[in-house]
Amino acid sequence: MHDFHFADGQLHCEGVALNTLAKKFGTPLYVYSQHTLTDHFQKLDTAMAPVDHLICFAVKSNSNLAVLRVLANAGSGFDIVSAGELQRVIAAGGNPRQCVFAGVGKTEKEIEFALRQQVYSFNCESEPELLRINRVAARLKKVAPVAVRINPNIEAHTHAKITTGTYENKFGIAFEQVEAIYARASRLKNLHLRGVQMHIGSQITETTPFEQAVKKVLPLVQKLKTKYALEFFSVGGGLGIIYDPMLASGRPAWWHSPAAKNILTPASYAARILPLLQPLGLKILMEPGRFISGNAGVLLTRVEFVKRTGKKNFVIVDAAMNDLIRPAFYDAHHEIVPLVKKAGGGKAVASDVVGPICESGDYFCKDRPLPKVGEGDHLALLSAGAYGFVMASTYNTRPLAAEVLVNGKKFALVRERQPVKDIWAGEKVVAWLK
Ligand code: LLP
Repeated sequence: MHDFHFADGQLHCEGVALNTLAKKFGTPLYVYSQHTLTDHFQKLDTAMAPVDHLICFAVKSNSNLAVLRVLANAGSGFDIVSAGELQRVIAAGGNPRQCVFAGVGKTEKEIEFALRQQVYSFNCESEPELLRINRVAARLKKVAPVAVRINPNIEAHTHAKITTGTYENKFGIAFEQVEAIYARASRLKNLHLRGVQMHIGSQITETTPFEQAVKKVLPLVQKLKTKYALEFFSVGGGLGIIYDPMLASGRPAWWHSPAAKNILTPASYAARILPLLQPLGLKILMEPGRFISGNAGVLLTRVEFVKRTGKKNFVIVDAAMNDLIRPAFYDAHHEIVPLVKKAGGGKAVASDVVGPICESGDYFCKDRPLPKVGEGDHLALLSAGAYGFVMASTYNTRPLAAEVLVNGKKFALVRERQPVKDIWAGEKVVAWLK
């Protein structure tokens, strides 16, 4: 469930008409629903209540300070992948001691900063990384809390670019090698083996892969827990959301495995996973990003031109792949709806909604039946709260979009549109060119 709905023919976010926001702040504009963020966090938190647990929101999915503050206020911890993300969490008022630090390439500087901030755990992805963390901790006369990321080699039936749980990719340590690595790590004096972690991929819309992965690693986790007095087991993130309402009625899509029968919900996830985890007696960590932020955000855009060429109807909008890259990058589906429903509705027109960037990959949909729109109308790209703004760039010297947070009937700008001169602020025309 989310808080974007039509009332009086206008798309609203909670109690605010999005058309008002588009006119007031201009477009492209990201809009987030505070209630959806907390609601999704709480649904997961409630479903996991039977076990001692901590939900660590994956900052990479949406790192706006206001979004992080909403989640910190709800009691969330954070999954971070860089010193920059840790600084954001701190700037937003989050607690570093409730942060887990993931990623395959942590630098010495990042490790030092995270150690000083006393993060809960470094989730390590290789033996050289464990050695590096040990070395930095020794230099600082500290003991670093670590967990090893197990790669369970489970096929998660998701898009090739976001699957992580098989041996075909760079993530984690192969299941078969984990025990020996813990044994060697236990001899490193400046490491504290605090937990075990896994993550099998992103946008997984069925419970089976999670269940398979947990079942596979459980005996190993049990063994490691006894041997090294571990505190936690992180089951990672990856819980999928519905992007395409047609999905629920069985239309095949790349993220939809033929085996999928049930759409994953916090309740169905907990029902399958908790009975496995409860006997373990460890604190359970989760690192959901998209599940919390995905359906909590939309991207608003203005129609600039409608262009017909041959058989095609191109709707050229002022947002582009630099604002939301998911369709170009993953062939991802985002629902597109006009902010104002026109009287009578009219016949749907098969349309390509495209941005102004000079790349044929700059599209949001192809040949999709959409209501007829014209110059000056506004559209919303739905489910854009995760991996939307955070993946934006300034390609074509297009400023980063503005972001707004809505709470009931209240709204506020939570990031100003980037002034165009800021794009080249750090650049120099060197002396020899003068
Ligand atoms: N934990 C780890 C170790 C991860 O690598 C990720 C995501 C997460 C948690 C959070 O996953 P989530 O719950 O959001 O699925 N840009 C892509 C998604 C990349 C995900 C990377 N890792 C997209 O737009 O679909």
